[in-house]
Amino acid sequence: MPADSATDLFLPVRLGSLWLPNRVVMAPLTRNRAPDGLVGELHARYYRQRAGAGMILTEATVIAPEGVGYPNVPGLHSDAQVAAWRGVVEAVHEQGGRMFAQLWHVGRISLPRYQPEGGLPVAPSAIRPAGEAFTPEGGAPYETPRALELDEIPAVVNQYAAAAANALAAGFDGVEIHGANGYLIDQFLRDGSNRRTDRYGGSIENRCRFLEEIVEAVTGVVEAGRVGVRLSPTGAFNDMHDSDPQALFDHVATRLSGRGLAYVHVVEQFPGDEPAPFDFASLRRRFEGAYIANGGYDRARALQARVEDTADLICFGRPYIANPDLVHRLALDAPLNPPDADTFYGGDAEGYTDYPTLDQQRAAPYASR
Ligand code: PHB
Repeated sequence: MPADSATDLFLPVRLGSLWLPNRVVMAPLTRNRAPDGLVGELHARYYRQRAGAGMILTEATVIAPEGVGYPNVPGLHSDAQVAAWRGVVEAVHEQGGRMFAQLWHVGRISLPRYQPEGGLPVAPSAIRPAGEAFTPEGGAPYETPRALELDEIPAVVNQYAAAAANALAAGFDGVEIHGANGYLIDQFLRDGSNRRTDRYGGSIENRCRFLEEIVEAVTGVVEAGRVGVRLSPTGAFNDMHDSDPQALFDHVATRLSGRGLAYVHVVEQFPGDEPAPFDFASLRRRFEGAYIANGGYDRARALQARVEDTADLICFGRPYIANPDLVHRLALDAPLNPPDADTFYGGDAEGYTDYPTLDQQRAAPYASR
């Protein structure tokens, strides 16, 4: 008997308030195909094709106009955006899938050109990230952001809650608070980007406050069992660093526990980052809900993670770009289509909705995608 025949990766699992048909999660994947922040038919088709996932996480979706830092990313802060997402969620539900909206604010990872009235991006502190922002014309250096005033912070917290309410109105099954990858919440968490001297900066407890207030506000409108939080304790992407990531994220996990949250979703390694030492089991032990692992997992590592019980669910990013029927392929140990990096960001149906399923390939083995 093959060693993996007893795996529970393809069996139903409880996640907070939901039952999922399997433990495979589709990662949030920025694809830059939503002009004016609006998803449409193309997105409905793309997500519907991937409804076999245990759960789909949407591409990062902004909670407010100030949260934008890239071209053509979707939002969840206007009635038109809610209506647009409703069509996508319906398509996934019709196909029997489940879908959470990922709530995003980029903070300093923006440019005046993406901001309302061309203002400066906001951040916990006025610290310019190294590197360049992504624009349709190429890279553009970041600027020094404006530090949020103490009395501006409650309004940003409320924007997360309003977007969460919008997600429910659009029919989503839940929301994921994006606390990872160097965006606004992560900028508050880590001391490389947070030098505040008020109650949102300094100690680990203080740096965690912004996230806790957001979780509190979001769970005021969405039941906690339908809320997850994404974290990236070791991520260096977006010029992030911290003096003591283990202490920080162990504290975060402890503070997220006891609220009935569905899960933490942990980016254990970001594409392009060097591996960094971190005890993810320590973080997981401190959190009462499910642990979703993400970052460079393939079939073998996913099966191993379940055998060794280092994660409850496994989240796949790039493999999901190129394999709409990923769960089916993993279950059969079938070959995967390779993703085409040239069509990751921006464009149209090419490299988005035209990757074939295994059944399509077997029916027409010589057709190209
Ligand atoms: C990106 O657009 O490159 C991006 C967005 C969200 C992430 C990571 C990367 O969490």
